[in-house]
Amino acid sequence: MSVRSNYTDSLNFYGKETPQGLMEKFGSPLYVYNEVVLRERCRDLVGLCKTKGLHINYSAKANANPHLLKIIREEGCLVDAMSPGELYLDLKAGYKPDEVLYVCNNVSPEEMKNALEKGVLVSVDSLMQVEQLCRLNRGGKIMVRFNPGIGAGHSAKVVTGGKETKFGVDPEKLPQLLEILDRYGVTLAGINHHIGSLFMEGESYIEAAKVLLDLALKLPCFEKLEIIDFGGGFGIPYHKYENQARFDLETFSRLLNETLSGWAKAHNYHGKFYLEPGRYIAAECGVVLGTVYNTKTNGTKPYVGTDLGFNVLARPMLYDSFHDVEIYRNNAQENMEELEQTIVGNICESGDIIAKNRVLPVLREGDIVAMLDAGAYGFSMSSNYTQRLRPAEVLIQKDGTAKCIRRRDTFEDIFATVTDF
Ligand code: LLP
Repeated sequence: MSVRSNYTDSLNFYGKETPQGLMEKFGSPLYVYNEVVLRERCRDLVGLCKTKGLHINYSAKANANPHLLKIIREEGCLVDAMSPGELYLDLKAGYKPDEVLYVCNNVSPEEMKNALEKGVLVSVDSLMQVEQLCRLNRGGKIMVRFNPGIGAGHSAKVVTGGKETKFGVDPEKLPQLLEILDRYGVTLAGINHHIGSLFMEGESYIEAAKVLLDLALKLPCFEKLEIIDFGGGFGIPYHKYENQARFDLETFSRLLNETLSGWAKAHNYHGKFYLEPGRYIAAECGVVLGTVYNTKTNGTKPYVGTDLGFNVLARPMLYDSFHDVEIYRNNAQENMEELEQTIVGNICESGDIIAKNRVLPVLREGDIVAMLDAGAYGFSMSSNYTQRLRPAEVLIQKDGTAKCIRRRDTFEDIFATVTDF
C-alpha cells in the first residue's frame, strides 16, 4: 500500500511497473509519462474539431521529446516550433515541413532562413521582423502574429495578449504591414495570435478569436489566407486531490465550432483554423518522481528535503504554481498522521520550494514523492543549474511496460561543451 496514490492508481498510471522499481532502474529524480493518458488528451482535442479545416497544432515548447511528438503526430495533431531546436526535433519525430508552423519572437534572420530552407511557414510578430523575413523570402509566403488586445493566463508572466506584453503586431499597423508585403511581393498566408497560458474557461479565447476573424476580413488578400491560428492556453486541473473541474471542452467546442463554421460559411473561407495547445496535451501524461532524503523542523516549520529542486521542475519557483503531490512507501500503514509540510529541493536558494504548506501524511526519509501534471513545462524547462544532471524520461507504454525515452545526463554531457581545457 502507498501513502497517497489514489489518482495514479485510478489511471493505472505506472502500468506493470511501480514507482519504486522505476526509480531503481532509472534513478531519482525521474520523469515518467503515460502513453494512454497522452493519447487520450490528444483525442479530447482532435475530437472537438468538428469544423472543416480545424486542426490541433501541438505547441512543442510544453514537451519536445521526439517519442512523445511521434505519438502526438499519430493522434493527428500538427506541431509548432519556436526555436531551431524545436524545429529539429519536430522533423526528427517525423513531422513533414508543411505540418510544422514556426511561431517565433525576436529571432535572427539566420533562424528565419533555417526554417524557410526546411520549407516551414514562419510567423513573425513585428513590422521589423516582417521586413527581415520578406527580404529572405521575396515572392514567398509569410504568417503574421497579431496582438488581439485580450489576454488570459495563470500568471502575468504568461499572459501574452494585450498592450502590456511584447507580443504581436498591433492590428492598427495593418496598412504599414500591407505596404511591406506589397513591396516584396510576399503573400500573407496566415495570421495568428496567442492570448496566454492556462485559463479554465474559454470565453476570452472565443472573444479573442472573433477579433482575429474580424481582422481577417480586413485583409485585401483574404482569399489567399490559408491558416488562422488562435493559439493555445487551455488549462488542466492541477488540484487533482480537490477534484478540481476540468476545462469544459464540450461547451467550448460547441461555441467554437458554431463561431468558426458560421464565419467560414458567411465569408466563403476554405482555409484552415488552428488551435495551438501545449499544456492540455502534455501536462497530465507526466509526473516527476523524487526521493525524500531529509526531514527537519526550522522554527515551527516542517521541511521535507528532496532531490526535486527547481532545476528539475521550475514552475513552482517561477510562477508559484501548484502541483499536487503523491507519496509512495512500501508497507505503509493506514490512517497516517497528517501535518502541514513544505517540500523543498536541493538547490542553495530559499525559493527552492516545490510544494508549500501542504497538509499531507507525515513524510519520511526514503519516501518517493510524485509531482503530478508535470508533463508540460516540466522537463522542457529543466536545467543543469548547480551542475546537476537532468533526469531521465521514461514512457509507460500502452502495454504497461516502461521504455526509457531519454537517459539521464552524464558528467561527460555537462563537460562536453567546455572548450580548450
Ligand atoms: N502558442 C504560442 C505562440 C505560445 O507561446 C504558447 C505558449 C502556446 C501556443 C501553448 O500554450 P499552452 O497551451 O501550453 O498554454 N512555462 C509556462 C507556460 C508558458 C507558455 C508559453 N507559450 C508554464 O509552465 O506555465
